[in-house]
Amino acid sequence: MYVISSKPSATVRYSGLAVFFHWAVFLLIATAYAAIELKGFTAKGSAARALSMSVHEWAGALVIVLAVPRLLWRLLGGAPAPVPGPHWMHLLGGAMHLVLYLFIFMQPVLGLLALNAGGHLMTLPGLGIELPSLVAQNADLKDTLKEIHETLGTAFYTVIGLHAVAALFHHYMLGDDTLRRMWR
Ligand code: HEM
Ligand code: HEM
Repeated sequence: MYVISSKPSATVRYSGLAVFFHWAVFLLIATAYAAIELKGFTAKGSAARALSMSVHEWAGALVIVLAVPRLLWRLLGGAPAPVPGPHWMHLLGGAMHLVLYLFIFMQPVLGLLALNAGGHLMTLPGLGIELPSLVAQNADLKDTLKEIHETLGTAFYTVIGLHAVAALFHHYMLGDDTLRRMWR
């Protein structure tokens, strides 16, 4: 009864592109988190440390590259009406989605600004081409931005976790189409 492969009606589901954007951004964010956690196990100055930082930066930067067309698609194409349920559940779901949208824009920008304020540039892998800096080097600004970026990054483990638990609760406990219509 709860198998993901049974498809919801075409009129109530997310479009194929919306589904692609959702799961591609999820994979990139998971990669950014995994890379920064792995960095903690690497030796200072090692190639592994540089690689994990680079993977973190690039996976994170690609999040915003996809977030822009994703939001445009969402604003122009809309989203299906929420699956039937109590008003409070719709409000909570809507608020959660808004916060997640804010996160996928703010977090990469904060990370990039922190990097630039620390005097570092992003380099295109293999090409050695450096992206221009968005802010002048400034140690105080770097510390502030890095702290916000790290605090937000840590807090969002919980927010993303709650969002995922809510999706699984809909699927396995309520038995509705919420997860199926964001699947494929
Ligand atoms: C959605 C994307 C991103 C997520 C979820 C994310 C998350 C995080 C987390 C959880 C930390 C470590 C917090 C800690 O150690 O307590 C971190 C650190 C950091 N992130 Fe990101 N980040 C993202 C994107 C970026 C981008 C695009 C850049 C730069 C281009 C960046 C640059 C940094 C830097 C410089 C640090 C500090 C690393 C250190 O000194 O150890 N992040 N990020
Ligand atoms: C980095 C992690 C994630 C982010 C940033 C994220 C973000 C979002 C956003 C912004 C929406 C609203 C879509 C829209 O209306 O345009 C959404 C919907 C949804 N997400 Fe996620 N998501 C993440 C991970 C997950 C995971 C792990 C699951 C499942 C276990 C999941 C399941 C869903 C479902 C089922 C919906 C549709 C909800 C509905 O129709 O009311 N998401 N997500």
